[in-house]
Amino acid sequence: MSKSKEIRQRILELVQEYYEAEFAEKTFIPGETAVPVSGRSFDGDEMVHLVDASLDFWLTTGRFALQFEREFARYVGVRHAMLCNSGSSANLLALSALTSPTLEERQIKPGDEVITVAAGFPTTVNPIVQNRLTPVFLDIDLPSYNLSLAHLEEAITPRTKAIVVAHTLGNPFELDTVVEIADRHNLWLIEDKCDALGSTYHGRLTGTFGHLATISFYPAHHITMGEGGCVLTRHSRLKKLVESFRDWGRDCWCAPGEANTCGTRFEWQLGTLPYGYDHKYIYSHVGYNLKLTDMQAAVGLAQLQKLPAFIETRKRNWQHLRRGLADFEEFMILPEATPDSDPSWFGFLLTVRPDAPFSRNELINFLETNQVATRLLFSGNITRQPAYQDVPYRVVGDLTNTDVVMNQTFWIGVYPSLTPAMLDYAIEVFARFFKQFG
Ligand SMILES: Cc1ncc(COP(=O)(O)O)c(C=O)c1O
Repeated sequence: MSKSKEIRQRILELVQEYYEAEFAEKTFIPGETAVPVSGRSFDGDEMVHLVDASLDFWLTTGRFALQFEREFARYVGVRHAMLCNSGSSANLLALSALTSPTLEERQIKPGDEVITVAAGFPTTVNPIVQNRLTPVFLDIDLPSYNLSLAHLEEAITPRTKAIVVAHTLGNPFELDTVVEIADRHNLWLIEDKCDALGSTYHGRLTGTFGHLATISFYPAHHITMGEGGCVLTRHSRLKKLVESFRDWGRDCWCAPGEANTCGTRFEWQLGTLPYGYDHKYIYSHVGYNLKLTDMQAAVGLAQLQKLPAFIETRKRNWQHLRRGLADFEEFMILPEATPDSDPSWFGFLLTVRPDAPFSRNELINFLETNQVATRLLFSGNITRQPAYQDVPYRVVGDLTNTDVVMNQTFWIGVYPSLTPAMLDYAIEVFARFFKQFG
């Protein structure tokens, strides 16, 4: 073994030891230890992968990213997985790819409309605005918290080009109907699957239904890279477009460090550039640089091995809370899985009934004071957020349930590091709060 290999091995053994010393399991003390909504679930494997990649000192996208893309695409059951630096970037790339002139009559152009929901995460909606398109907002259903189909067909006009919606907190939207409507009207469908890794619909993984799907690897998500995201597609043409927008808009598809993959590097003539202009520097799109580093991908590879177990624990934790909170339905609307789906839950959504003898803020203050963390459902009603006051949009139908969510809804955690003792404690805190009103 070479000297450097031997040193690397010693370092990695030490990293494993460091993990045990620094992050060994801590005892849960009810009322003192926090019960977070989400967080990193990891062990020494992730730290070893991270240091291994950093010792390569390749820094940009490299061997770990390539391996991750291959394994992740196989896991989800699509042909192509393209890594990028966040779920927000994945959403930006997925929609921007559809603005490529190479798509000819299917190209989405400025002024076209994209259907989405107002009760969502901002960066599901922002790429619509950033690409100079018009968001068309629909309401959601309760208690699935997903796109309501009531006005979907009515929302479609000759300018409508795409539907972009998320599987809310892991709960799949009604894919049968949405896919059928998208196909019938020749619309693109992007599944924002950032919160739904592992969720299935009719036994098939979400992210395989739309033309494109997006994933986030932020620490709150099913698996993490710190920061990171991914675009999924089964269409080779869309893969090439996503990669072009991700990699500065270039026409060339060489991986970092490679050259002349096409074999005709100095034989291209595109735009009004002279014949033979280096293909590495020809730009067919107005792109970005949204690549991630190999250190991030290395962490993701270690996480991917744990994904099946993570998904099972999320489902188990959700069921635990569902059973434990069933007695309090008079005060709160409990979440329900979409029919024919098996969600890999991101969180446990609760809506305080509008006629409850307390406000949502009173309940979440009590929970937070007792160390049970809560979150709202992202932007609530995005049309009411300050950033969107001057953004042109359309609403079809009304946003009644979206406003209910903005005023009455919150969620608590189900992530894999939450133990049954922590969940029992959270349920007991709810019980203590409701006792005042019993
Ligand atoms: C539904 C949804 N889409 C997109 C994102 C953005 O992902 P990221 O934080 O990696 O940019 C999130 C983030 O949590 C999300 O919940």
